Order: sequence, then structure tokens, then C-alpha cells
Amino acid sequence: MCGIVGYVGPRQTSNRPLEVVMEGLRRLEYRGYDSAGVALVTGEGGGLVTAKKAGKLVNLIEELEAHPLPAATVAIGHTRWATHGAPNDVNAHPHVAGPIALIHNGIVENFASLKAELVAAGVEFVSETDTEVAAHLLARAYVEHGNLAVAMCAVARRLKGTFTLLAVHADAPHVVVGARHDSPLVVGIGEGENFLGSDVAAFIAHTREALELGQDQVVTITPEAVTVTDFDGVPAEARRFTVDWDAAAAEKGGFASFMDKEIHDQPQAVADTLLGRTDIAGRLVLDDLRIDESVLRSIDKIVVIACGTAAYAGHVAKYAIEHWCRIPVEVELAHEFRYRDPVVNSRTLVVAISQSGETMDTLMAVRHAREQGSKVLAICNTHGSTIPRESDAVLYTHAGPEIAVASTKAFLSQITAAYLLGLYLAQLRGNKFADEIAEILGQLRAMPDKIQQVLDRAESIRQTAREMVDTSSVLFLGRHVGFPVALEGALKLKELAYIHAEGFAAGELKHGPIALIEEGQAVFVIVPSPRGRDSLHSKVISNIQEIRARGARTLVIAEDGDTDVLPYADVVFYVPQCPTLLSPLLATVPLQIFACELATSRGLDVDQPRNLAKSVTVE
Ligand code: F6R
Repeated sequence: MCGIVGYVGPRQTSNRPLEVVMEGLRRLEYRGYDSAGVALVTGEGGGLVTAKKAGKLVNLIEELEAHPLPAATVAIGHTRWATHGAPNDVNAHPHVAGPIALIHNGIVENFASLKAELVAAGVEFVSETDTEVAAHLLARAYVEHGNLAVAMCAVARRLKGTFTLLAVHADAPHVVVGARHDSPLVVGIGEGENFLGSDVAAFIAHTREALELGQDQVVTITPEAVTVTDFDGVPAEARRFTVDWDAAAAEKGGFASFMDKEIHDQPQAVADTLLGRTDIAGRLVLDDLRIDESVLRSIDKIVVIACGTAAYAGHVAKYAIEHWCRIPVEVELAHEFRYRDPVVNSRTLVVAISQSGETMDTLMAVRHAREQGSKVLAICNTHGSTIPRESDAVLYTHAGPEIAVASTKAFLSQITAAYLLGLYLAQLRGNKFADEIAEILGQLRAMPDKIQQVLDRAESIRQTAREMVDTSSVLFLGRHVGFPVALEGALKLKELAYIHAEGFAAGELKHGPIALIEEGQAVFVIVPSPRGRDSLHSKVISNIQEIRARGARTLVIAEDGDTDVLPYADVVFYVPQCPTLLSPLLATVPLQIFACELATSRGLDVDQPRNLAKSVTVE
């Protein structure tokens, strides 16, 4: 939530600092789009200028065209997801206090008491934000210490809550200082110039060399150097890494939206997540799993913690891992987990699933699990992010950057990584023979081609979506792994098209939800393979009959060759055949396309749905 960019470089005739920061904000806008703003230090002799505008980045661009800013050596920029204070020009960042401009991602929880203290000391506030408190504290600390980094340390020690702060000073034309506590910040290493960003997308167009800052660190960048300390000013280490994707991966590549592109990236995302996971003997090797094999052999329970779409990937993981490994798997929304005194211990493996690696609810649950003595394994898409760093082990998905706010390719790659984990545990614990594992791996490797086939058939689902542009409610039903697919289909439709949508376990229908069925009610039904588990298929067919008899309009997702559905389906979308446990990788795709197309037909912005932000870094 909130995107942050910082730049420092040599003096040039062009306004490179502003260009770099605006380019970074464009790439980070998915993190929040309530307002945007920049601050520049204009050179020797000092001078601080700012510009900020409520609404999307385009408003700031127009403002800068109307009122150009002078050339500078240093710039910071911010794109906001509002927490304290309405999304208007005044509450937009940067916040200025005397010679200092400051931007912030997170929430200052003790802002009320700090504000009272500052007001008593005669400080006048102009905004309703918690951030302005930090700006005034920093200005006062600078007067005391005469050094921006030392002042930042002093402020960081006083703030409670979560924060990434970046600040510049009018008299310091070659310095940007940042601080982070429970909120992301990475450094980009350039030649004669350096960068800061909420994530690497902020500077990927300029460098792929990066530094991962640790928790509670303050960083100072100048054109030549990067200095890192803890909040007491003691020098600290930061880990260097090279970003393994380039700027082109974060562009739309000819698609109308990032979402559309990312839906089409899915065959590659799944293939890349499977890549390099076996040795020459065909045995699964998960190199990043830094947990001792004896610990993994001794676990007696797995608890998956995640939020939203990632939690639905966890539900799919439950079906697969329990079936293959015979270990009980619980799936819990991360924000519920630590508040209910969960029973976890050193024999519990906690699996945290997160695309961004920054979701605060999931991070807090990770910390709680580790405090209880559990080992935590992260399934994550973002290198250098907090959740993998604070976990005992990580299994990276290789989906590449996911820019659209609604998750698509991350979901499929999370499911793929969960399959790999399940098979690895089965191999390690001897639940399955090598040839059985090899067979399932072979089936998994066939999935990218099958996903591509679903994409190639997309026009019929698009057509249906366009016809349903005025629909006000859609239900989604599934059983077994089709249940989390139904939940995900409903979530996509809610968040993209702002339509009432609910997912149910099909068996639950007659326990209440069937009362919702009336003439014309649209219901997606995810039908399992007729070749799958005993009677599951026929049970779902019965469910379709039950709702059809009550007037529902049935939109059925079924496997190629399944003619049993035809008498009860108003529309059928066929997907290629595959083992039931792997079927979410196919059945989800038409639902993503449906939501994307319907939202687009309604004239909505599918990449940046209202009220949402990509990574939810507040609790
Ligand atoms: C929905 C969506 C969210 C995220 C959730 C967790 O399309 O994107 O529900 O899945 O906020 O985010 P991560 O995976 O970054 O922890």
C-alpha cells in the first residue's frame, strides 16, 4: 500500500530525478491510487519544491505539465492508498515541515499523542494525516542533530506502527534518507546514481542490482554511496541481490490491461514455477527449503496462512497435500490466525502464501507462528520481500511481476508451488513411490499447454461476459478443489466488476443458499472430472439439476468430453482433461477471463479497481 520512490544522481540539464521518480510512480501506481506527489531538491544553494494532486497519477502529470518544476539532483515520489485523512490534495504526500519533505507508507499508530505534543509546542498542522507528525518530528530532530540520517534514526525510534519513510532536506542536494519498520523498502544500485523504492519495479528500468534492507534500518543514498544503519545509528548489513526479471516484464506488451496480460502469462508462470525443481534422477529438489529434512519428516500438521486469493490457493493445497501426504492441513485467514490462540508448535509446519511478501496480516501471523516454535515456509513471488526473509524457508513462485491489483498468475503459480511442496513432502516421508511422484510431475508439466488451450478458447467466455454486462448477481458453485475455484471466481467478479458474487461448496446449497435461486439467477458450476473420485461428478450434476429446476441460468465449466452436463447447462465452457487435483489450474482461467471482460464491458479499470491496493501493508 502506497508506492514510494527516491532518486539521487548528478546534476544534469534534463530533470532526470523527476523523470526517474515519475517513471517509478507509474510502475508503482498499483500500490495505491488515491493521490500522487513529488518533492525535489533543486541544487546547490538549496531549494525544495513539491507538487501533489488527489486522484490517479495522471492528475499529477497534468499538474506538472501546467506548472513545470525546476531541474534537481534529488527527488522523492509517492502514490497513496489513503488511511488517515480523505484522498485530497492536502492529505497527499509529500508533507513539508520547514526545509524537509517526507513521504510515508504505513500507519503511525501513536500519531495522536505525538500530534498533541507537537501542537502543545506550537506546531500547526495542515493535513489530517498521521504522516505530517513524522515530518514535523523530523524537522525538529534535524535542528537538534544537524544531520538527516541521525535525525531520521531519532524519529524512527519514536514512531509506533508500520512505516517506510523517505525524506529530503532543502540544504542537502545529494542525499535521500529512508527508514523502514514492518513496511517494504529496497535500494537500487546504479552507476553514479542510486534509487529507493517500495519494490524493485520502482527502478527496474534503470538497474537490476538491488539491496534488500533489513527490519528497522535507516538508509542514506548519495550518488556514490549507500549507507545502512540500525535505528541507533550502528552500521548494519543489507543483502545484495540481482532482480531476475526486466522492465519489459512489467509492461503491458500489447494487451489492453495488465490483468489481460497476466492472465495470458499464466502458462509461462506455471512452467517457470516448475522449472529446475528436479535432479538428474528425476527426484524433486527444492533448494530454497532451508528446513532440516528431519524436521519436515516429523511434522504432524500443516497450517496454511494467507489472505484473499492466496488463501484460496491454500485451500487447493489442503486437498492435494492431505491426499498425497496424509498430513492434516488447516487453512486459516492470516488475520484470524493469531487472534484465536491457535494450537501450533514445533511439530507444525506453517505455510505462509503471499504474492507480495508484504501483506501485513500474513507477516504478523508468520511472526506469531514462529513465536510458538513452528517452522514457517513462505510461498512467495517477490524476492527480497519481508515474509520470505522472516520465514525459515521459502519456495519462490516464478510468476514475474504481477501489476494488476487483482491476482491471476500469482494464484496459479501459488497452487503450482503448493503441489511441489506436497509432492516433496510425500517423497521425503515415503508416502509415495518415486514412479508415482514422477507421474504426477509429468501431469503437472503438461498443465502449461492445457492452460494455453483454455486461453485459446477464451472468445466464448468473453462473449458470455459481454451479454451479461447488466447482471447484478452471480453465484459460483464447486465441490472438492472446485470449491476454492468457486470462491476465487466470485472474488474476481466482486473486485473487478463490483457485482454481488458468492462462492459456495455445492453440497452446502441445500443447507441455505438455494433460497437465493430465482428465475434467471446466473450460477457458475465447476464440474469435476467424470473420471475422478467416486460419485463426485454425479453429485455436482445433481446440484445443477436442483438449481436449474428453480430457474437458475447455469454456466458450466466441465472437462472435454463430459456430455452429462449438456441437458442441464445453459452454457458450457469446456477445459482440457486433467487429474481432478490439478484441475484448479484450468477451471480458474475462464472465471478470470469472465470477470475481466465483464468489468471491461462496464467501462471499469480492471487494473486498478476502486478502494483496493496491491499489497496490503496495514492490518
Ligand atoms: C485478490 C487479491 C488479494 C490478495 C491478498 C493477499 O485478487 O489479489 O485477495 O490475494 O491481498 O495478497 P498477497 O498474496 O500479496 O499476500
